[in-house]
Amino acid sequence: MKGLLTAGGHGTRLRPITHTKNKHLIPIANQPMLSYAIDYMRKAQIIDIGIIINENDKEIENIFGNGKQYGVNLTYIHQNSPLGLAHVIKISEDFIGKDKFLFYLGDNILVGGVNRFIDEFNKLKSNCHLVLSKVNDPERFGVPEIKNNKIISISEKPKNPKSDYAITGIYLYDSSIFEAVNNIKPSERGELEISDAHQYLLEKNKKITFSEITGWWKDTGKPSDLIEANKLVLKNMVKKKNFDYYDKVEFNNKINGKIIYGKDSIIKKSIINGPVIIGNNVVIENSTVGPNVSLSNNCKVINSRIEDSIVMSGTSFLNIKKTIKNSLLGNNIQINQKNEFFNEINLIIGDQGKIEIG
Ligand code: TTP
Repeated sequence: MKGLLTAGGHGTRLRPITHTKNKHLIPIANQPMLSYAIDYMRKAQIIDIGIIINENDKEIENIFGNGKQYGVNLTYIHQNSPLGLAHVIKISEDFIGKDKFLFYLGDNILVGGVNRFIDEFNKLKSNCHLVLSKVNDPERFGVPEIKNNKIISISEKPKNPKSDYAITGIYLYDSSIFEAVNNIKPSERGELEISDAHQYLLEKNKKITFSEITGWWKDTGKPSDLIEANKLVLKNMVKKKNFDYYDKVEFNNKINGKIIYGKDSIIKKSIINGPVIIGNNVVIENSTVGPNVSLSNNCKVINSRIEDSIVMSGTSFLNIKKTIKNSLLGNNIQINQKNEFFNEINLIIGDQGKIEIG
């Protein structure tokens, strides 16, 4: 079995972060989002993985290279323009050949891996196996209509959804999907829609089966989704006791719950409420950090308080008197406060931002 992983697209909902960074590289618990999908594939013995990237994207290849360090072989497939998920499959036909494959949207985060779905697909000998999750807002997703435990129709972002299931970004196919993607027409928004390809398979009486995700799954389109995903991954992270670095964390701190901290990080006179992950060379002084915070390398938090947030490398907070919460902050941002006027700040700031408050 091969793997096909998306890392292209527009990323409009995550601007301004995506002006300078591919969204699939946004860190979740200090690891690029895409690395979770690669990890799950390797754990499912999927070694040959095609990654879809936008035409001029060099960032993904610079970070993941040929995949050797992750124990996989990566092939980069360039998409001229984000023309839809069925288009992604269409341009990957040479890479996939006659193999079965796992199609995984790189901005989906889930707990527990993909082995169960692969086993069910193999056991049921389906042409297409979809992974479903119950959601409150099915109208944002591809939605199946289910009767007698069988999918009987599929529609994309329907105004009147026929079930409360979303089709998640994890799909298994045999090569009959290529007939579908080569025969459907672009939708009104000019994309080859994956839901139309699935509907085509249904009309050709191909076998479409499904599994339900009972645990946690998130399609991280918006900043709030990323902050939620970060929370979940932090909650599930394994505590590594790294005694080598323990001497840098002074004893005049109050540390509650799980924290992981990197090399050469200094924590002084602070309260850390886990789960929190702290990268290398981070300084936290006279501050409260957590719960649910990721601080990447070289961040500084001085006389400040931060909760439920993702902070990318080199970003600093100085004298912020009120809590920074539910925030997604790019690289090398400086936030300083002079006066005390507000209660809480929620920020989405791209790389190099400079904010002075008060
Ligand atoms: P989406 O989240 O549906 O779209 P997007 O990434 O373009 O973001 P936005 O809606 O905020 O503008 O994409 C799902 C996944 O598929 C994501 O990993 C990006 C990827 N993708 C491609 O690689 N090529 C495409 O043509 C499209 C539409 C998406």
